[in-house]
Formats: sequence, structure tokens, C-alpha cells
Amino acid sequence: MPKSVIVFDAYGTLFDVAGAARQAAVSAPRLAEVWPRLAEDWRRKQLEYSWLRAIMGAHADFAEVTADALDWALEAAGLGAAAGPLRPLLLDLYRRLPAYPEAAGVLAQLRAQGKRLAILSNGAPPMLAEAVASAGLEGLFEAVISVEEVGVYKPDARTYALIPARLGANPRDVLFVSSNGWDVAGAARFGFTAVWVNRAGLPMDRLPHGPAHVVRDLTQLGGL
Ligand code: LAC
Repeated sequence: MPKSVIVFDAYGTLFDVAGAARQAAVSAPRLAEVWPRLAEDWRRKQLEYSWLRAIMGAHADFAEVTADALDWALEAAGLGAAAGPLRPLLLDLYRRLPAYPEAAGVLAQLRAQGKRLAILSNGAPPMLAEAVASAGLEGLFEAVISVEEVGVYKPDARTYALIPARLGANPRDVLFVSSNGWDVAGAARFGFTAVWVNRAGLPMDRLPHGPAHVVRDLTQLGGL
């Protein structure tokens, strides 16, 4: 039975998180060789810091965690003290990440089919509002929900509980779509039908609970 409510993770699922470093490299020759590693370190540290802060009970919003992770990644790339204008450039580009090319078309199609669409993201509300607007996805979502409402990061169950609370939807009617295996695990554990968008062909995470469906990109969501 196709689901009536589709909730998307944001970063990595709708928005290409490597986009900031890739775009900065166009105008910054210092990034030409190191940008892929910088993007990877930035993302990994951002997630680690979110989980560690959740475990420590030391929450800071995703803008702060993202900036802290960038500082680590710049230093690891040998650009710490010498980053200069690169740091504000990268943070600015992160607020306006490109959406994956198929996202806008697929979301519009799902809306036209009568699906209720929403985002649940670690992103702070101003980050999400700017990312959605700059990617031209405004007006497609019934709700853009930030974990800031509960002050803890995914995959804590309190974050997924925001979905039934905000949308009045039964978890069994919700399809939760994420490119992050750990987010898929958290969502499936909560009771959603979870879809893993495995763009990179990665191995399945070894976690309790997993995806009901695995797709290569968002175009394969129709009919789920
Ligand atoms: C998010 C992170 C997980 O958007 O990418 O919630």
C-alpha cells in the first residue's frame, strides 16, 4: 500500500553536502586538490560531533556543529590558520547547497499525486529555510521540521516523534527517506517504513533495524 506521507532527511538526501567544497574550489586554487577530502572530513566530523554532543548532553545547534567540523577539516587539510576568507566562503556556500538534480522534479510529482511531504533534519530552522529557498524547493513541503524543537540529534527517538506530533500522521503511514544508513535505522526503529537512498553504492550499515527499500536516487520513490 503506497504511503500517504513522505518525510525526507535534508543534508545528503535532498542537498548535496559536497557541493560547498566543490563550488569553493572553482574560485580557490588552494582547494583544487584537497576539496573532496575536505568535504568528506567536514561531513564526517559534523555527524560525529552531533552524536557526541547528544551522548554528552551538550547540545549546540547544527550551524555551530557544522562550523566546528569545518574548522577541524580545514586544519586537517593544512589550511587551519591560513584559511582566511575560505572559512566564511565555505559556510556561506553550505547555507545554499545545491539540491540533487532530480529532487525538485520528483518532489513536484509526488505533490501532484497528493502525497504530503515534509523534511525532518538536524539542521537549525534558519539553515533549513535558506537551503530550501535557495534550491527552489519552497512551497513543496507541508512542514520543515528541525530537531531544534527537541534539542537533540537524530537518531534519538525524540526527533522522529516530531513527525507524528507535527503532522498528525500514524507512523505506519509514513515513508521516511534518507541517504544516511544510521538515520534509516533510527527511523525504522521508530516505526516508519524507511527508504535508504544509496547513491554511492555503499554497504548496508550493520545496525538494528534497516530499510524496507533501497533506491539509487529519488526518482525511484514513485509507488513506494
Ligand atoms: C540531516 C542530516 C542527518 O539533514 O544530514 O538531518
